[in-house]
Amino acid sequence: MGAPSIEAMGPAANLTREHGFEPLRVEGTLPSELAGTLYRQGPGLFELFGTAYQHVFEADGAVSAVRLRDGEAWGASRLVQSEGLLEERRRGKALYSFAAPWWRRYWSNHKQNKNTANTNVIAWQGRIFGLMEACKPTEISPEDLSTLGETDLGEVILGGFSAHPHDNPKRKALYNFGLEYDRVTNLHLYELPYKGSARRIKSFPLPFPPMLHDFMVTENYLLFFLSPAKLQIFRGLFSIGPWNKLFQWDPNASTEVFVIPIDRPDEMIRFSTEPFYQWHFSNAYEHGNDIVVDYVRYPDFSTFGALGDGSKFGKGRGKARWGAFHRARLNLQTRSMDSQLVWDGACEFPRVHPDKLTQEYRYVWLSTEPLKEEVGKVPHSLLRIDVKSGDVVTHDLDGNEYPSEPVFVPKDGATEEDEGYILSLVYEPDSHTSYLGVYDGQDINAGALAKVWFDHHIPVTFHGNWVPAT
Ligand SMILES: [Fe+2]
Repeated sequence: MGAPSIEAMGPAANLTREHGFEPLRVEGTLPSELAGTLYRQGPGLFELFGTAYQHVFEADGAVSAVRLRDGEAWGASRLVQSEGLLEERRRGKALYSFAAPWWRRYWSNHKQNKNTANTNVIAWQGRIFGLMEACKPTEISPEDLSTLGETDLGEVILGGFSAHPHDNPKRKALYNFGLEYDRVTNLHLYELPYKGSARRIKSFPLPFPPMLHDFMVTENYLLFFLSPAKLQIFRGLFSIGPWNKLFQWDPNASTEVFVIPIDRPDEMIRFSTEPFYQWHFSNAYEHGNDIVVDYVRYPDFSTFGALGDGSKFGKGRGKARWGAFHRARLNLQTRSMDSQLVWDGACEFPRVHPDKLTQEYRYVWLSTEPLKEEVGKVPHSLLRIDVKSGDVVTHDLDGNEYPSEPVFVPKDGATEEDEGYILSLVYEPDSHTSYLGVYDGQDINAGALAKVWFDHHIPVTFHGNWVPAT
């Protein structure tokens, strides 16, 4: 056998080394004031027993972390030991995913979903949770990233728990939603206060079973764009493939806008607008009678299939119609929405200053995605958009390096919104390893202040969060 091909390596290759926190090599100068842990979550196994998963959303999750203190760094990375994966390994065969034969996955999923926890990792009340939208949270040990197990947060969570909780600093709580697909799909709304117990705010039946990946929070509202990406119930119920046909785009249907007052959820404001899709928002805030919503807007749902094939990560957009950064204004009196393009490049994974969530703000950081034919000629970039002026600052990564979502960490005592650091976990293909890039938030185009190297690769991560040291 020769050396593994780049296809067997790349950002979508299985995590091959698991470990607790161990010292990492620091290249450059790590700011000594950066004290805390960056947690990242993504797929960790792209195949099982030699059979590839059909869609990256099926992949078993991995959690990785880089802990920084006094200019030094420690890293850890582990697969999530879900009950489903443990059962599959015990029995020596795939049971749940499309890597399993139809009858076996139908029977397994009939009993329970496999909780891969492959999408995001959050902190709440000093605890760490890995998330995937179809299942309940999975608690992770902050000591060594071992899996502590699934939780319903004290019998609060019904059905799934979205991988996109959002902080509402004014209300000192995280908010989230979950979908429960059944004959009628229910939308459950949750509040996770900084102190005290989690609670379910309210549940609503939905007009159809959507792919609902993310939502938005303002100080007083929860906001949903229900795009016409509809679960094919028969396929879902009976685990009928292929995976990327589980959801179907209906170009003749509307996107339904739900604006739900947190304190008066029965007074939901609802209206329809033209069909579009969104994976992620950057921020939203109230402004007079309007709600301003910033997000990456897609003309349709074609990225669902394109994202599905993990081997394409880092290889450009393919044939999918990609998204661009938009600002929408929702008028709650006229029940209407106007969305304007802010920046027309293909971008994703927007993040803002954590204290600016639900508030008027100025800066958003994102990553870019080259066209398929541009890969190798046009690099992936990190990007900062000034949403007030429209100014854009970019940092091009080297070669075919593949960045993760840029997470902003403010400096202590900062007076400017961009005074802080950008953290992005970057896959470096030549060495098939990954490093944490630390950038100056006010000068990302100067390149990394420091690179913190793992001695192995971390597969692509979707989302994560910085937890300051206490
Ligand atoms: Fe996401």
